[in-house]
Amino acid sequence: MCGIVGYVGPREVLPLILQGLKTLEYRGYDSAGIVILGEDLSLFKRQGKINALEKDLQGLHLDGRTGIGHTRWATHGAPTELNAHPHLDCDGNLAVIHNGIIENYLQLKAELLRLGHHFRSETDTEVIPHLIEEQLKSQSSLLGATLAASAQMEGAFALAVVSKRFPNQIVAVRRESPLVLGVGKGENFLASDIPALLPYTRDILILNNNEAALIEESGIQLFTLEGKALQRQPLSIDWDAKMAERGGYEHYMLKEIHEQPQALRETMVGHIDWDHSLVLLPEFPDDLLTGARRLYISACGTAYHAGIAGKYLIESLAGLPVEVEIASEFRYRRTPFVEGSLGLVISQSGETMDTLAALKRFKEQGIPTLAITNVQGSSVCREADHIFYTKAGPEIAVASTKAYLTQVLSLILLAVKLSQLKGQPQPELVCELKRIPLLAERVLAELEKTVQEYANRMRFLDDYFILGRGLDFASALEGALKLKEISYVHCEAYAAGELKHGPLALVTQGKQVCILATQRNLFAKTLSNLKEVKARGAEVLALSFPDGNELEADEIWSLPPTLDPLGPLLSMIPLQLFAYYMAKEKGCDIDQPRNLAKSVTVE
Ligand code: F6R
Repeated sequence: MCGIVGYVGPREVLPLILQGLKTLEYRGYDSAGIVILGEDLSLFKRQGKINALEKDLQGLHLDGRTGIGHTRWATHGAPTELNAHPHLDCDGNLAVIHNGIIENYLQLKAELLRLGHHFRSETDTEVIPHLIEEQLKSQSSLLGATLAASAQMEGAFALAVVSKRFPNQIVAVRRESPLVLGVGKGENFLASDIPALLPYTRDILILNNNEAALIEESGIQLFTLEGKALQRQPLSIDWDAKMAERGGYEHYMLKEIHEQPQALRETMVGHIDWDHSLVLLPEFPDDLLTGARRLYISACGTAYHAGIAGKYLIESLAGLPVEVEIASEFRYRRTPFVEGSLGLVISQSGETMDTLAALKRFKEQGIPTLAITNVQGSSVCREADHIFYTKAGPEIAVASTKAYLTQVLSLILLAVKLSQLKGQPQPELVCELKRIPLLAERVLAELEKTVQEYANRMRFLDDYFILGRGLDFASALEGALKLKEISYVHCEAYAAGELKHGPLALVTQGKQVCILATQRNLFAKTLSNLKEVKARGAEVLALSFPDGNELEADEIWSLPPTLDPLGPLLSMIPLQLFAYYMAKEKGCDIDQPRNLAKSVTVE
């Protein structure tokens, strides 16, 4: 959470930093601030979103070749202007922006107060400029002072530091929270995430955990936190800047929903031998998969829902037992692992703190680790033994859409691969995968208007149920999460057969219920559940294939027929559109819903 951006070079710094912050705004958006370092250190801060700050700064041209900017997701201290970053030392000569939490800040602050330092905010971050100021009394370089101060700090942090005494330098430090560096010609960049750098360069140096960087116009030097120099070549990132733009859509979320057919296509490239109807998964070694006796999946939020779909798919197609657990729970449990365990984490960003902790827990137990992620060079990639990249491209909207669909697709590929290794290829399923991007396009073309009209009729909705069995239950969970986070409509997802064990008490006359019925083997059972809610006066929307017309629902959204294991790849699309259009009806901030941030790098 929180977005960091920095630049050293000849371009006009202020608009560049503002632009970078806008790209990173999905990481947090309760306040923002910028420091431009010229002859003076100019500081600008504002509560609220970046465009409020941008308005304040309109028409302002500042000399200076160095700048840092921050967009905040508050942890310590209310989202006020005073608590916005950058934070300064006592004299206002040195500025720091920070993503993460300094866990021992109270002790550090007490000591700094005793030494006579003055504090202006309620944040944990403010101890950092004062610690560096203290270190600069004995250290001759900004890098040395920042490293010495970092050694005093406990917790997770990504820092960018500038000082009037060291013009045209940014010192960056990373412990846990992400930072990437952009390599230019005669200019260099810093950001929390790759999309902010794409308009300028695709040569990216990932700052690893426990590393620091000295960023100057002439180059970037990397160091360990002990100050030992490191050498590393930049990665060439295959996303281009266009992919991170809105491209004519009103919101990123809508754009990303529409990008799903292409994201599905891209994720399959190189992973299917179409001539022989076989899945190829060179990322995950065959002997590892063959030797697996149990798969443990851990993830958060949407990625966790993909994990649930993965459990149903892998157990039914390949007969491998799968446990799925939310990473924030898993990391603190003492799971008794069986012999032959394999750990799999799923994360769009590859930076989610709890998911990383789950990954580390697997490793501590000596369990081989697999990861499904969307971001090259992310922390998950550095920690996991084997990585499969979803090819969703940059996902900017806070609500995950195309990343989810490509995660489910990746798990379908894994399930088929495991089945193949057991001597049970799935040619029919592999053949059908070829049609899936086209079918996803059909869903978008055929259902978007219907969904929009339904959302308009539902505009006063404040409580909703989504029900499903088997794979449809996983989709129900994800559909309900989308509705909650984007449109703020309370929504419960239930395994359809479980409703009568309690929540059916909530179903009364006029209650709106959605039933997913894409699993033919469970169709008759789902039909009974539909009847149960209808009998209590519910109004039912059903999502099914055309042969599901016998569902006596008030409204049916027909999906193009496909095989049951692939149903979630189609049924999720109208659910995402429903959340989107409901949010639009309610005038919500769709790409940046309240209280949330895209990348959750705190616990
Ligand atoms: C919801 C959403 C979140 C993320 C979760 C994990 O739309 O996006 O629930 O899925 O925060 O994020 P990643 O996948 O980056 O680990």
